[in-house]
Amino acid sequence: MITVIGSMNMDLVVKSEAPPLRGETILGESFDTHPGGKGANQAIAVAKLGGEVQIAGKVGSDTFGKEMIANLHDHGVDTQYVQKVPDTTSGVALITVAENDNSIIVVPGANYLFEPGEASALRTLIQSSQMLIVQLETPLPFVEMLVSIAFHEGTPVVVNPAPAQTLNISFIQQATYVTPNETECAILFEEPIEEAIARYPNKLIVTQGVKGALYHDGANPVRIEGFPVQAIDTTGAGDTFNGALGLGLAEGRSLTEAVRFANAAASLSVEHFGAQSGMPKRERVERRLRTGE
Ligand code: RIB
Ligand code: NA
Repeated sequence: MITVIGSMNMDLVVKSEAPPLRGETILGESFDTHPGGKGANQAIAVAKLGGEVQIAGKVGSDTFGKEMIANLHDHGVDTQYVQKVPDTTSGVALITVAENDNSIIVVPGANYLFEPGEASALRTLIQSSQMLIVQLETPLPFVEMLVSIAFHEGTPVVVNPAPAQTLNISFIQQATYVTPNETECAILFEEPIEEAIARYPNKLIVTQGVKGALYHDGANPVRIEGFPVQAIDTTGAGDTFNGALGLGLAEGRSLTEAVRFANAAASLSVEHFGAQSGMPKRERVERRLRTGE
C-alpha cells in the first residue's frame, strides 16, 4: 500500500490567449472545474498506474469537498482517512492557462488545518505502508512530523517540496527522496543544481520538464532523458512524476528505472487538459518506454 498524505483542491481553470496585464480586464476562452491538489493528483497517478493507494487529508464542508472525495473513490483511491471539516472551505486553485504562461493561486482552506500533533495519529498508517508520499500544500510543521515518523518507522518517503519553501537540513536528511523542479531546487538550496545533487546522492532528484530528471549516484551525475511531447497542459505533470516514482520504487525498481518510468508517465500526462485526466495507465507507460511512442 502506498500512502499519500496531503492536499486536495478543486482546480478552477480559466483559459485565455494571454494573461491579463496588471489592472486589465480581458475576455477568457473557457472555464472548467477539475479535481486537483498535489496530494490528490499524486494518489490518482498511483491508482491509474494500478497501484494500491490511500490518501489522508482534509476537505471542507462544501460541495467541492464531496466531489473531490467521490472523484478519488471513483479512481480506486481509499479515502477512509479523508476528514470533512465543518464550517470550512475546501482548498481551491485558481489556474490561468495562457500560451506559455500558467499561473496558479492556491487558497488552502481545509488543507491547512493540520496541527503537527495530528501526525502521531497517522503513525500506524505510515508504519504499515510500503511508501509515503508528501508535498508542501499542508502546513510544514505537520509534514516535518510525518517525515520524522516515516524515518523512525523505516518507511521510505518521497518529499515533493512544492510549492517551494525553505526547509531544515534535518528534514531533508530524514527524507528518502526529495523531488524539486529546477525552480524549487534553486529556492531550496541556493546553489547550482550540480552542487545540490552531489550533496544528496541518490536522494535529490531534480525534474527538468522535457529534459527529464537529474540526480547524482555518489560517483557521477545521472541524467535520465525525458520524452519529446506535444504539451497541451502541464498542470499535474510533476504530480504524475511523483506518484509514478513512488510506485516504481515501492515495486522494487532501481532509482534509474523508477525515474525512467516516472518520466514516461509525466510525459503522457501533459497531452490532455487538467491535472488528472491525462494521467496514464501502466500499459500506456510501458509502451512509451518500449517504443518511445
Ligand atoms: O500540481 C498541480 C496542482 O497544484 C493543481 O492541481 C493545483 O490544485 C495546485 O495545487
Ligand atoms: Na495535464
